[in-house]
Amino acid sequence: MTVAGGVSGDVTGRRLVVLVSGNGSNLQALLDAGLPVVAVVSNRPGAFALERAAAAGVPAEVVTLRPFLDSGRTRRDFDAHLAEVVAAHRPDYVILAGWMLLLSSAFLDRFPDRVVNLHPALPGAFPGAHAMADALAAYREGRITETGIMVHLVPDEGVDNGPVLATVTVPIEPDDTLDSLAERMHAQEHVLLVDTVRRLLAEPVVASG
Ligand code: GRF
Repeated sequence: MTVAGGVSGDVTGRRLVVLVSGNGSNLQALLDAGLPVVAVVSNRPGAFALERAAAAGVPAEVVTLRPFLDSGRTRRDFDAHLAEVVAAHRPDYVILAGWMLLLSSAFLDRFPDRVVNLHPALPGAFPGAHAMADALAAYREGRITETGIMVHLVPDEGVDNGPVLATVTVPIEPDDTLDSLAERMHAQEHVLLVDTVRRLLAEPVVASG
């Protein structure tokens, strides 16, 4: 094993590819923090995240699922293609920041220990696309008093349940609406994601050889 680079806190030469599907406020937080985003990939052509990438001068690509399925190809075919697109940018980490498609091993096996997901719930709590609404419903039923956010690795096809890198709890208030809770959650997401990715990038690069 050799250690290449790896000055603590130095992100020079490190490379992030960020996968997005929508607004891209978490992408914006990474960009605003000066983290080394070298490419953005969206599965939705109209994602506002693409405008954020353009404004920051970061190359962006759109890779949509529908043409694959319409031409008789599979989800795994799509994931393998997506992996090619992402791998071309030689990422140290692939950041799923509001990426709303599940990824199969056809993608994940290309980037072992290198895919990082942001999920708006605490570990094991509310997997899936409606985590905030599920948490608010659980609060109103008296089952929880707070929710939270996690950043975790995505080693396999499990949904929102890989090894946890960081968490933060977020209180739910009695008069919360989904919008007010989401606003509080997003503010915390931006901080947690930036801090966690910065920490990952500051770790020494371990290369074989
Ligand atoms: C975030 O709440 C993230 O946790 C979830 O999707 C949302 C994306 O927000 N997976 P944005 O596109 O980064 O604004």
